[in-house]
Parts: sequence; structure tokens; C-alpha cells
Amino acid sequence: MSKKIFSGVQPTGNLHLGNYLGAIKNFVELQNEKENQCIFCVVDLHAITVKQDPKELKKNIRETAATFIACGIDPVKSIIFNQSMVSAHSEAAWILSCVSKIGWLNRMTQFKEKAGKDKEKASIGLYSYPVLMAADILLYDATHVPVGDDQKQHLELCRDIAQKFNNDFNVMNFLKVPEPLIQKQFSRIMSLKDGIKKMSKSDPSDLSRINLTDNKEEILNKIKKAKTDPLPLPREIKGLAQRAEAENLLGIYSSLKNQNLESSINEFNGKNFSEFKSKLSEILIEKIEPISKEIKILLDNKEYLDTILLEGSNKADKIASKKIKEIKELVGF
Ligand code: TYM
Repeated sequence: MSKKIFSGVQPTGNLHLGNYLGAIKNFVELQNEKENQCIFCVVDLHAITVKQDPKELKKNIRETAATFIACGIDPVKSIIFNQSMVSAHSEAAWILSCVSKIGWLNRMTQFKEKAGKDKEKASIGLYSYPVLMAADILLYDATHVPVGDDQKQHLELCRDIAQKFNNDFNVMNFLKVPEPLIQKQFSRIMSLKDGIKKMSKSDPSDLSRINLTDNKEEILNKIKKAKTDPLPLPREIKGLAQRAEAENLLGIYSSLKNQNLESSINEFNGKNFSEFKSKLSEILIEKIEPISKEIKILLDNKEYLDTILLEGSNKADKIASKKIKEIKELVGF
């Protein structure tokens, strides 16, 4: 059955291995299933929920588009666009925020993490950010949304918002309730420095993540310095209990190799980390270095990237403006 796929990535600095393995790699696979219609959005409206330098933001929007393409998203097969160029996103976000409950948003754990201790000082945008995310998805009647594990709660909220809108306006199935597509394994890649912290753009240490722009030397150095523990690798899955770093590194290896964790455990059956790390670096270099090189080439061609985003935005706008018109009609505008 053909799927309507929608997903978004924030243009807030270097994209990393977590974004790739948790989301973008899956975008490419879904795009390559012939009958799917795919839309991938550079969510710049989401990015400004925390303060951004305007010049950096402009650069990061292009870099995110370049990363999509370098990872294998084909702008002919899929729509690639940036959110701020399609005004329906902001309009739908406002309307949906008027059907969403404060209590629902109060439960969002990512806001609590991002706002930290002083949540009074966080922006209203950061708080209502999941409603904008719901607007993104619902404007395109997306049936499936591929994301990493950290977005699961936001997708549950999106489903609640769609159902509430349909109930409030007495329109069964008008907003399509989307299915999350979260990989069963390896949907949460952890920091290379701390196996219980998510790999993240906002971690101050660059050694905590592999950026998709890293070159061979950087990858080798980061894997060499990646945290491990003193034991050899386990012989069975249950030997990974309480060994978050070993589990994460084996997970990264397995995901890059497209094999399950069990196969990787059998491959390194009780070997020491130094042997495993050299194999891990090898596969990372094989998969990431070509992406990194391609990003650099694409970034030298700003006109090309701007044309992709403009053409993508025109296509997205055609779909979204039709839906927002129907939404406004239902609301009584
Ligand atoms: P963002 O920009 O934080 O992340 C982009 C995608 O990468 C995944 N991801 C990870 N997956 C595994 N391990 C990690 N360490 C890791 N870090 C990030 C995220 O789950 C995500 O899939 N709110 C979204 C962007 C968004 C969106 C949308 C997504 C806006 N509108 C509509 C889907 C549909 C976000 O901030 O992702």
C-alpha cells in the first residue's frame, strides 16, 4: 500500500549519526519504495524556538538540505523544502493550538529537558513546539512519520490533536491520524562519551557525536576516544546489561551493517574493544565519509540548494494551502 510520508529535521547546526541512523537512513529507504510519496522538511520555524544567529540559521538551512541530498534523498522523487516558505504551517499551528489542551503540553518531556531548571525563561514557542509539529504532519495528510525514539511522545500528541479537531468540528477522518515509524532497534543513538545520554547537537563536546560532515581523521579520533568499559565484549545479548557504552557502540555497528545486535555479538564474541573499534571506524568511514564529501560539494553550489528548496516549497505549498483552506472553512473563518 502506498504511504504518505512526512518528516522534519531542525537546521540547528551539524546533523549527526543519531539523526542519520534514527531518521534520515529510514527516509531514504521509504523514498525508495516506489509507491510512497515522501515529503522532507527543514523545520526552520522549529529552530527559532531557541535563539539563533540569523546568518548561521541561513547557512544551516542550506546545510540540512545538502545533508538530505548527500544521504540519498532525491529531490526529484521526494519533496524537500523549508517550513517557513509555506505559510500554512504557522496558520495551522495557531488553529491547532486552540484545540490542544495545556495539560497535554505539560506532559511533554522534551520541553522539560530543553527548558531545564528555569522554565519561566523558555520561549512560548519552545513550549508549543509539538503543536507546530502536528500542523506540519496534518497539513499533508501524512499516513506515516519516520522519526527517532525521542519524537514518540510528540507523535502521540499529534494523534490526539487530530482526533480532537475531528471531534470538535464533527468531521470524521478529516485530519488523518498518522502512524509513527520508529525502528524497533537502534532508534536512540547515545553519546560517545556517556552511554545513557542521547547523542545530540547541543552537547558541548564534539567528541560526543559523529557529525555527518566529519572526515576520516575526525571519525578515527572520536571512536578511539569513545568511552568503553574494562570488560571484553559479551558473548550474549544479556551480557550487555548495565553496559550502556558497549550496547550503544554495538548498536551503531549493527545499524550501519544492517544486521541485528545478535549477529554483531556473534561477530565479536568476547573480543576486546580495540579490535571492535577498528572495525567500527572502518564501517563508519565507509558510510559517513562519502556523505561528508558530498555535503561539502553541495554547499559550494548555493544556487542549486536554493532552487531545490524553492521548487520543493512551491510543491509543498500547493498541498498545504488546499488543506489550510479546508481547515479555515471548518473553523468558520
Ligand atoms: P530533530 O531535528 O531533533 O531530529 C531529527 C530526527 O533525528 C532523530 N534523532 C535521533 N534518532 C536517534 N538517536 C538520536 N540520538 C537522535 N537525535 C535525533 C529525531 O528523532 C528526528 O527524527 N521535532 C523534530 C522535527 C520535526 C518533525 C516534524 C519530525 C518538526 N516537525 C514533523 C517529524 C514530523 C525534531 O526536533 O527533530
